[in-house]
Amino acid sequence: MLAAMTDILAITGLSKTYASGLCALDGVSLKVRRGEILALLGPNGAGKTTLISIVCGIVNASAGTVLVDGHDIVRDYRAARSLIGLVPQELTTDAFETVWDTVSFSRGLFGKPANPAHIETVLRSLSLWEKKDSKIMTLSGGMKRRLLIAKALSHEPRILFLDEPTAGVDVELRRDMWQLVRALRDTGVTIILTTHYIDEAEEMADRIGIISKGRLILVEDKAELMHKLGKKQLRLQLQQPLAQLPTALAGYQLALAEGGNELVYTYDSQDDRLGILGLLKDLGDAGVRIKDLSTTQSSLEDIFVDLVRERA
Ligand SMILES: Nc1ncnc2c1ncn2[C@@H]1O[C@H](COP(=O)(O)OP(=O)(O)O)[C@@H](O)[C@H]1O
Ligand SMILES: [Mg+2]
Repeated sequence: MLAAMTDILAITGLSKTYASGLCALDGVSLKVRRGEILALLGPNGAGKTTLISIVCGIVNASAGTVLVDGHDIVRDYRAARSLIGLVPQELTTDAFETVWDTVSFSRGLFGKPANPAHIETVLRSLSLWEKKDSKIMTLSGGMKRRLLIAKALSHEPRILFLDEPTAGVDVELRRDMWQLVRALRDTGVTIILTTHYIDEAEEMADRIGIISKGRLILVEDKAELMHKLGKKQLRLQLQQPLAQLPTALAGYQLALAEGGNELVYTYDSQDDRLGILGLLKDLGDAGVRIKDLSTTQSSLEDIFVDLVRERA
């Protein structure tokens, strides 16, 4: 089956209720395609880290199954886990170790034989080669983040999980991180990242999954998501301000803006443009003269806010 070939991760009916009784995940099913960047987008507390922790074998699921390239994470734990690299949300590193030692040691934890050439490639690709003999405590914040990625890549995983890779990171470092993640994907690694930053999902992802209150509300190609759920606005700058909307135009989704100097027409981006042609004609008939016009498309942020509000 083609689908089985291309999906590197298959999650089915995954639920988690913590000992406290809190249901952090509720029946999540998700397939991840080989070589894609999937962003799991959701507010704090949505269950993103719980989901990742289960796939990585850190947290036990209450129900459901996870297959990593066909390997069940419970029955076939070692095989599944060796295919996964995890860059955790919390930074934990041993301050007194050197960069080289800590990355080499990580590889050993997976039972892989030493491979200095691979470690060198990883450190070079993350611009850490010059720091290989430095102690971790001497690294900058950005270097420490890259070191966590180097550790996660030490055993040559096929899937890399990045849990909130840019939380609390400054703008410049975020851009560097995004570039780095793309470069990793270009080497064939499948990337799953979690974020509560909408712009990060919009910038990075091939597909976006939206998580809210332990449920995966939707998973969609980014472009498709924007197309399906996006609204477009046509803004018409008027030659003469209008005190109110002409009654002849009551049938359109229109609003006055900028003190009556602008008319804003909102329409679904899936609609054809006939509505606009009709509107322009009716405006002309009503004697409304247009100085200029522009269109805007709703951002992922608008879509996300709408979705989460609908389900609240
Ligand atoms: N070990 C735990 N015990 C009890 N509740 C937890 C534990 N870990 C997380 N939670 C709760 O589960 C929910 C989901 O948390 P988490 O998966 O960390 O969400 P996210 O990563 O999306 O912020 C939250 O309400 C959180 O407080
Ligand atoms: Mg989290």
